Amino acid sequence: MEKLIGFPNREAWRTYSGTSVVMITAVDALGRADICTVGAWSLVNGVPPLYGIAMCTKSAGANYFKRHTTTCIEQTGEFVINVPDESLTKAWGICGTVSLTTQPDADKFALAGLTRTPAAKVGAPLIGECPVNIECRVHSKHVLPSHDWIVGEPLAIHWAQDVIEGRRRLEWNRAPKLV
Ligand SMILES: Cc1cc2nc3c(=O)[nH]c(=O)nc-3n(C[C@H](O)[C@H](O)[C@H](O)COP(=O)(O)O)c2cc1C
Repeated sequence: MEKLIGFPNREAWRTYSGTSVVMITAVDALGRADICTVGAWSLVNGVPPLYGIAMCTKSAGANYFKRHTTTCIEQTGEFVINVPDESLTKAWGICGTVSLTTQPDADKFALAGLTRTPAAKVGAPLIGECPVNIECRVHSKHVLPSHDWIVGEPLAIHWAQDVIEGRRRLEWNRAPKLV
């Protein structure tokens, strides 16, 4: 097999599996809700179940700046992982390009046509249109150069009945072509 040797800074993205995207909701200290699309996430521990999300914390080139959602999570210690289905592609695109860091007055729920729904255990709202919502409390974090790997302990998980029965496809069934 013939192979090329690449340089990590440029080529590492080719190894990014980007299997699915989720939308993270969190509120800041003033109670203002934000939504951030995240592709770098995973279930990272079995017993107890723990989830990891990679949240940008520093300026490091055009697309890398501290997400307002990172600030929200720092301020409250809570977040929700909202898993979209295939109908929400436009919404996660909006939530992945509009930032409260640069547009503090934006209402991303309104812009993306999404509905705030009260959570059971955390202050952050669920996204009503997402068929799965995982309410998390911050368990720990691993500080990396541009991102924090934030580990969340799930406190409550909401499942739409048709997802459990296999009648609705989640976004994680269809790897978006990010690379
Ligand atoms: C497909 C996609 C995946 C993304 N994945 C991440 C990610 O894993 N971590 C991150 O910090 N930002 C990620 N982003 C960028 C944020 O969603 C984006 O900067 C957003 O506007 C931040 O909003 P906020 O500052 O209001 O929190 C992604 C964007 C898109 C479109």
